[in-house]
Amino acid sequence: MSIAIHLADSDIVAPAEEGDLILDALLLAGVPMAYSCQQGNCGTCKCELVQGEVMDLDYSEYALTPEERARGLILACRTQAWGDVTVRRLDDEELVVHPERFMRCKVALLEDLTHDIKRVVLKIESGGPYSFTAGQYAKIEFLPLTTRDYSMANVPAAGADTDDAKRLEFHVRAVPGGAASQFVQGKLAVGQTVRVSGPYGASYLRESHQGAILAIAGGSGLAPIESILGRTLAAGNSNPVRLYFGVRALRDVYHEDLFKAWAAQYPNFRYTIVLSNEEAPGYAHGLVTEVVARELTGVIGMKAYLAGPPVMVEAATRLLGERGMAARDIHADAFYTEADRQGNTA
Ligand code: FES
Repeated sequence: MSIAIHLADSDIVAPAEEGDLILDALLLAGVPMAYSCQQGNCGTCKCELVQGEVMDLDYSEYALTPEERARGLILACRTQAWGDVTVRRLDDEELVVHPERFMRCKVALLEDLTHDIKRVVLKIESGGPYSFTAGQYAKIEFLPLTTRDYSMANVPAAGADTDDAKRLEFHVRAVPGGAASQFVQGKLAVGQTVRVSGPYGASYLRESHQGAILAIAGGSGLAPIESILGRTLAAGNSNPVRLYFGVRALRDVYHEDLFKAWAAQYPNFRYTIVLSNEEAPGYAHGLVTEVVARELTGVIGMKAYLAGPPVMVEAATRLLGERGMAARDIHADAFYTEADRQGNTA
């Protein structure tokens, strides 16, 4: 039976069938919605159920806590509508909307950043112009019919027609058994064509916030964090900008020269690289969240940006919540592998 999904405080109504997922219906109707994993893992699509009959599918309690569900919040990607429904977006005033693009790109540069992370620079050949906000991601088809999500590591360009605007940079980590990332490691070559669509994701830089920033990255989660920090520093944010970059060992560290250059250029920028599996002079030792917990003195006026393995993102989110940071000030991008997506909604 046909039903309707209403967006509160607007005239927007999306048609749907009984049992449709609310996010699917809204996206299909062209309604701009924040979303990321579409699996109930990240919490990006969280919104308020104003009224209507719904059924929840499985989701992670990290994405939506029992308290939030009891207050009437839902995950639009894991909620079926079984009658006319009204929902309200939580982050309305902050929702950035860039047109979704479907582009053909050429591989312009490949570089080993570490033993298992490759820097992939693409040049947009057709389908642009592409605009995005620092921290967002794209879907890339390195192999036909095998699409994976990767965050842009470059800072968005100022103008649409510049060479910079046609260049996209990604950090691709080899995932054991991962078809796409193994292809990138071993077979992708300069000059090859790949399909890219985007931008997506809501864990992006809140440009109007000029206060202190705490960024925590794990592994190739550095990509969106580099974009966010590069953008806020270049835009003149003079409040403390603090980066913690957690990796296993020295051989996993990359772009330290970039952090050094930022620290020399911007007196408000400081960084700490944390090694979990070995000790080395000049580097902190332990889990990145343990080091943040030791050094963090206050969170007032601060926003946090987190990106990396889900376990790190969850621990950092918990820590910042315990220290009094409001959920609206924590912007988290957990890097789920394809294996996570297939089996992990618990
Ligand atoms: Fe719904 Fe991630 S998009 S929880």
